[in-house]
Amino acid sequence: MKNFKTIIEPFRIKSVEPIYLSTEEERKNYLEEAHYNPFKLKSEQVIIDFLTDSGTSAMSSKQWAGVMEGDESYAGSKSWIRMEKVIRELTGFEYILPTHQGRAAERILYGYLGSKGKIFISNTHFDTTRANIEFSGASAIDIPIPEGTQPSLYHPFKGNIDLGKLETLIKIHGANNIGGVIITVTNNSGGGQPVSMENVREVSKLCRIHKVNFFLDCCRIAENAYFINHREDGYRNKSYREIAQEMFSMADGAVMSAKKDALVNMGGFLALKNKQMAEACTNLLIITEGFSTYGGLSGRDMEAISTGLGEVFDPGYLKYRIRSTEYLGQRLQSMGIPILLPVGGHAVYIDAKALYSHIPVNHYPGQALVCELYLKGGIRSCEIGSVMFGKYNNQKKLIPASMELVRLAIPRRVYTQSHIEFVIEVFEKILKEKDSSRGYKITYEPEFLRHFTAKFEKV
Ligand code: F0G
Repeated sequence: MKNFKTIIEPFRIKSVEPIYLSTEEERKNYLEEAHYNPFKLKSEQVIIDFLTDSGTSAMSSKQWAGVMEGDESYAGSKSWIRMEKVIRELTGFEYILPTHQGRAAERILYGYLGSKGKIFISNTHFDTTRANIEFSGASAIDIPIPEGTQPSLYHPFKGNIDLGKLETLIKIHGANNIGGVIITVTNNSGGGQPVSMENVREVSKLCRIHKVNFFLDCCRIAENAYFINHREDGYRNKSYREIAQEMFSMADGAVMSAKKDALVNMGGFLALKNKQMAEACTNLLIITEGFSTYGGLSGRDMEAISTGLGEVFDPGYLKYRIRSTEYLGQRLQSMGIPILLPVGGHAVYIDAKALYSHIPVNHYPGQALVCELYLKGGIRSCEIGSVMFGKYNNQKKLIPASMELVRLAIPRRVYTQSHIEFVIEVFEKILKEKDSSRGYKITYEPEFLRHFTAKFEKV
C-alpha cells in the first residue's frame, strides 16, 4: 500500500452491531434523565461512543477463536501459561501477576508501596492511579514538561516528564519517601501524548542513582512506540515491539490495563522485576483478585490478551490506528475547532476553554461541550478538565485543572471512515452555535472520582 495516499482499515467486518439512530428530541430527554452526565447514559442511547478507548476494541477472529480455547482451570491453566510467557517475552520482567483490569494492578502495587507521607511522581497520573495512591494515604504529584500543558503548542514528545523538577522533588522529599516514579505511556490525561525514549532513559538513570522505584503505566505502549519510531532519532529501523522492549528494560515494573493496547474487552496485569515486591503483591492479588494463575480473569480473557498483545504491534494496524486518529484531529483543526496539538494516539482532545471562551471554568466548559456533542449528534465523549481533576480550597472555591479538555477517545477497529465524517459534520454545527452554549454547575458529587457519578444542572 506504499504508493497510495488513502490508508484503509486493515480488516474487514465479520460481525456487526446495530446502532439505534435517535432523534435530537429523544436525546434531550435522555440527557436530562442522566443529569447531564454522559457516564449515566445507556449505551443504546448513544450513536457514536467516544467515551473511552478502554475495553471497547473489536477483537479479531483469532482472538475470538482463542475465547473457545480458553482453559478455565482454577490453577495452572494453559491459557495462563501462555499469557505469562507472552508478557514475560514482551516486558522482560520475571514476575507476572494477572488482574481483572489496570486499576486492580494499581491498587495492589500502590497499596503495597503507598502510605501516609509517601509520594509518587508522574508525567501525569491517570485518575484511577491518583485515586489508588491517595486512597493509600500517599500523595501523587504530576510534573509534565511545561509544553505539555499548552494545548496549541507543538512538541513531538509532549508526554515527557520534567526531569529538572523530578530531581528537585527527589532531593526535597528524600528518596526514602518516594513510593515510585510512574511514567504513563502515552500520557492519557495530558492528551494521549507520547514520551520519548530519551526521557525514559533519563528518568531511569535518576531513579537508579537515588534508588527509587520506576514503573511504567504501559497501557498504550504500542501507540507510544509508533511515535518514537516516527519522531525520535535512531529508532526508524527498530520494530515497534523492539522499541517497547527497550522501554520496559529501563523500568522496575509495569502496570497494564489490557483494555487498551492488548485489544481486549477486559484484563490487565502487573509485571515486576523484584522478587520480594512480587511476593508481597501476589499475596494481595490472591486476597482480592484471585489465585496467581488467573487473577481476576477467565482463561478465555487470557487467550484474547495473549493474541492481542501480538496483533497490536503489527505495522499495518498501528499505521491505520495513528493515522485515523490524526485524520479526525486535522479535519477538526482545519475547521477552526481548537484541539490539543499534535494529535495523540488514541484520542483527539478538544480545548473546550478556547472553544467556549465565554463559559468560565467554574461553569465547566468541557462539560458544556460534552453535552452539546451528545445533543447534536449522539456522540458520547469525556470531560478531562475541572470536573475530573478540579479540587476545592478551604473556602470550597474551585481550584481548576490545568486544562479544560474534552476527549474523543477512539475505540480500536470499531468505527469506519463514514462514522468519522459524521462526527466532523456534528462539529460544524457545534461551531455555528457555539455562542449560545451555556455552562453547568454540580448538584451532587462523591469524594473520589466524582466525574463518574456527579449530577449537573444548566447554569
Ligand atoms: N492508566 C491509564 C493511563 C489509563 O488510561 C487507565 C484507564 C488506567 C490506568 C486504568 O485502567 O480502566 O483497566 O482499570 N483508562 C480508561 C480511559 C478508563 O478511559 O482512559 P482500567
